[in-house]
Amino acid sequence: MTDIRKHYIDCGQGHVFTHFDSLSEAEQQTLLSQATAIDLGEISELVATLIHSPRTGSENEGDDLSPADYIPMPGHCESADPSLWKEATKRGEAALRTGRVAAFTVAGGQGTRLGFDGPKGSYGVTPVLKNSLFQVFAEKILATNRIFGRPVPWFIMTSDLNHEDTVAFFEAHHYFGLIPERVHFFRQGLMPAVDAEGKILMAERGEIALSPDGHGGALRALVRSGSIRLMEADGIDTISYFQVDNPLVRCLDPTFIGFHLMNQSDLSSKMVPKAYAGEKVGVFCQRDGKALVVEYSDLPERLAGACDANGELRFKSGSIAIHVFNRDFIARLGGNGEGGAALPFHLAHKKVPYIDREGVRHEPTAPNGYKFEMFVFDALPFADHPVIIETARADDFSPVKNAEGVDSPQTCRDDQLRQYVRWAREAGIEIETDHSGLPPFAFEISPLFGDTPARFRKSWEALPHKPGLTEGVVLV
Ligand code: UD1
Repeated sequence: MTDIRKHYIDCGQGHVFTHFDSLSEAEQQTLLSQATAIDLGEISELVATLIHSPRTGSENEGDDLSPADYIPMPGHCESADPSLWKEATKRGEAALRTGRVAAFTVAGGQGTRLGFDGPKGSYGVTPVLKNSLFQVFAEKILATNRIFGRPVPWFIMTSDLNHEDTVAFFEAHHYFGLIPERVHFFRQGLMPAVDAEGKILMAERGEIALSPDGHGGALRALVRSGSIRLMEADGIDTISYFQVDNPLVRCLDPTFIGFHLMNQSDLSSKMVPKAYAGEKVGVFCQRDGKALVVEYSDLPERLAGACDANGELRFKSGSIAIHVFNRDFIARLGGNGEGGAALPFHLAHKKVPYIDREGVRHEPTAPNGYKFEMFVFDALPFADHPVIIETARADDFSPVKNAEGVDSPQTCRDDQLRQYVRWAREAGIEIETDHSGLPPFAFEISPLFGDTPARFRKSWEALPHKPGLTEGVVLV
């Protein structure tokens, strides 16, 4: 018997090898390598703490939380200081010009809510051309490259679920014009799913039910994959982080990068005031003098709905999952040494198809399994000088998460159109819209034509023949 098999039996997980002897040699090798990669000590501790003795919320839960401080945005708040924002923009532009910034997208998730079969980044989102999320980001990065004269490297975290398909998608589209050597893919880690007793679930007779370890796994995956070393060798110390689901994001926002650098921050974040109390976004809070994000599902309802003297939500700072990281901070938190295992795991109760000990397949209709995930924003309390800046939702956040309703392809398409209209109007173009700023037709502006109002205006003014902005017009 192999040592690893014995170790599994000793740890009460021997059932993983129930069908081992009837597997082909190749299947046996796969199972052995999956089993070897799992830290059974970690799993048993997670089962004990998260499943068998879960923390129950007391009546006073959250009493130690206060709203986090943030830097308000000019035009949104009287106390905002426009000169500070100008200075930050200059600092960020200088950083982009000197090539010390990388873009980083987390794209390892399963995207189950959208119901799209393929890497989420390959989903078509733009109003006319239905360009993919990846293409939108690529064009924004290309636009930045042209402006600052440096090819910004782009790191993309995938998972075993979508790695090959993601790379194939980029190859099929010739990397959307980016230099292929400047696009780096790496896989995040995996964690086994377990049942209510803590037994590891099997996806096949010879395959453990594994799933991505959450976007918080990005920190250790950046280190393990050698990406951090690569950045260091390349003179990159500043990492602009965004999620794959949000095409409105400014992938490389000079002002945000500048605030991060001016404050020598380990980890900076953007906030938007929450649209309503129950909006499904994490909330920036403060506890014992440390900033943190409390996930919407963990914020007690009485706090989520609490208002201040002006009738505004007290905990109003919504996290839109846009950050800037300092490279050394990631190396510290994601490394194997001190602090390497610092990010906690969260439990997700999910439907996990599995094979039982008799080899019978089950497709559960109710949650039967537990998955373990790390959240990247749990790094915030470990960060020195964290900075949170306000941003305009309309210019940074319209994610595609659900097939219909809020945060869907439809709401995202509409938000893109409203942004085009605002830019066009700023450039003096008249467009008819409804009260929400939505035109009655779809047109499209590529980031390569203009990725800010000023650059849109410049390109527009330079056009010798200006098209009417109507149905189906695309400015590239
Ligand atoms: C997330 C945040 C929430 C924030 C909101 C903004 C969590 C738990 N919550 O919610 O605080 O307000 O976004 O839109 O993240 N991903 C991986 N690997 C994984 C899991 C996810 O790369 O193992 C990536 C996904 O591909 C996606 C992103 O992380 O790009 C978001 O993941 P998702 O699970 O959809 O987060 P939300 O619940 O929507």
